[in-house]
Amino acid sequence: MNSASQEYPPLSSFPETGTPVHEKLTGYDLYRKLGSPKRIVAPMVEHSELPWRILSRRHGAELVYSPMINAKIYAQNNRGAKRVREAFFNKQFSEEGAAEIKIGDTSDTDRPLIVQFCANDPDLLLKAAKTVEDRCDAIDLNLGCPQQIARRGFFGAFLQEDWDLIFRLINRLHLELRVPVTAKFRVFESVEKTVAYARMIERAGAQMVTVHGRTREMKGHKTGLADWDMIKAVKEALSVPVFANGNVMYPQDWRDALEYTGADGVMSAEGNLYIPSIFSDAFSTDLSQLSREDVDREAFKPLEITRIANEYLDIVAGLETPTSSAAIKGHMFKITRPALAVHTDLRPVLGEARSREDVQGEERIAAYRSFVRELERRLEEDRKKPEYYAPSQNSRYYITPKHIADPDDRTTRPEFIPHWYLQPYFRPPLNPPKEEKKNDAESSATAGDAVSVHKATSAPAPAPEPAPEPAPAPEPAPEPAPPKRPADETPAAESEQEAKRARTDST
Ligand SMILES: Cc1cc2nc3c(=O)[nH]c(=O)nc-3n(C[C@H](O)[C@H](O)[C@H](O)COP(=O)(O)O)c2cc1C
Repeated sequence: MNSASQEYPPLSSFPETGTPVHEKLTGYDLYRKLGSPKRIVAPMVEHSELPWRILSRRHGAELVYSPMINAKIYAQNNRGAKRVREAFFNKQFSEEGAAEIKIGDTSDTDRPLIVQFCANDPDLLLKAAKTVEDRCDAIDLNLGCPQQIARRGFFGAFLQEDWDLIFRLINRLHLELRVPVTAKFRVFESVEKTVAYARMIERAGAQMVTVHGRTREMKGHKTGLADWDMIKAVKEALSVPVFANGNVMYPQDWRDALEYTGADGVMSAEGNLYIPSIFSDAFSTDLSQLSREDVDREAFKPLEITRIANEYLDIVAGLETPTSSAAIKGHMFKITRPALAVHTDLRPVLGEARSREDVQGEERIAAYRSFVRELERRLEEDRKKPEYYAPSQNSRYYITPKHIADPDDRTTRPEFIPHWYLQPYFRPPLNPPKEEKKNDAESSATAGDAVSVHKATSAPAPAPEPAPEPAPAPEPAPEPAPPKRPADETPAAESEQEAKRARTDST
């Protein structure tokens, strides 16, 4: 079938790439300069903010993306624009994008960093990108956001029909920016179209690409599995480095994705949010030991919920750059999810916690710290109770669904993880099939295809439903409210659901 019958323009219809005004690294030279990153943290609105990037790097991430920034909003110059910009990428304290950041006695970094924008106007994109080009290693164009806000604003995955515009957006940055341009996109139904699309993006000047192996329709309860074969086809077709995105939930999965797709790196979003140490070297070891009472606690430090929660808070408190309460709360709910499934009365405590931007250091995060201290105390007690070392009747969140747990591979994807350890979150099905509900009350197993694809790819199978998510309770705004950020690929209803649950639990 030729491209005309598939309704996409042939590669030959696009101009030549052209020569950039500024000398800059391309393709694999760029990749090597970044340290040949294999473990990559995804751009995540309100979630891949500065302290989270630092935490993720401490635990093995080799490249991290900023949350998506709307170029049109970032580029504006009217009154209040500075504050708007600070809410997205704060240059005031010289920490975002800095090569070295001191947090107490620890020396951290915010590099390598790729800053992501969404846009539909090449001039505005260039203008916005220029303001951060000295603070990052590359600029990424978001071609994957499938949300309503992106449909209305005509950006993200809704540019998929306008290849000419995509070419111009990328090409403009390639020709005129000082740093390289990269792109992150979703796949089409057909592999031919996906590969043709990727080739067009490469020809426009993208020096690295990320392929999210889901189509634009695969969101919310239709999320389903990413297609690693699609990613593999793109990797084989392009000359620039390719990152694989999708289905990485356990520490072992990024290695499997790398091997299966042949990609140069693997990007994780939700996997990283629930297990920020997902890329840690520590987890090449036997995870099935986690459920033993005599486990070597030191070996599994990076999986201990309260250690990670405290470490994140240390970073937030140690930075001058303020972190939004919504971001802190979002992370806290995700990290502590398994523990809160047992200690449900602490949900409203977290739901009601606030950070304070008007003070510095520990004072800023005092409410969150006291929540973690209480949780820590309870989890220490739980560790002494034998009943928590095996699945229990009412455990729901801290069981690996049966269709995910590969019977031949319990060491890297254990069937059961006690609730004081971080663990992946699998969405329960929207309408669980009756059979499965009856036979497997614990499991969040969904479609049968999840089983077969898991077997084929060794990838875990996130069940297709919007995650009920953290509960950023409404905050008192001491200063003008920050600009509305477009939610990206996380269901918008998440936080409200969790907030509702927190409120219900408290009554
Ligand atoms: C909380 C959240 C925020 C996200 N924000 C962005 C974003 O700003 N830009 C983007 O390209 N993708 C965004 N995504 C999508 C992820 O980058 C990623 O493509 C998607 O979640 C699939 O990866 P996963 O299977 O590892 O979760 C977001 C995802 C989540 C969960």
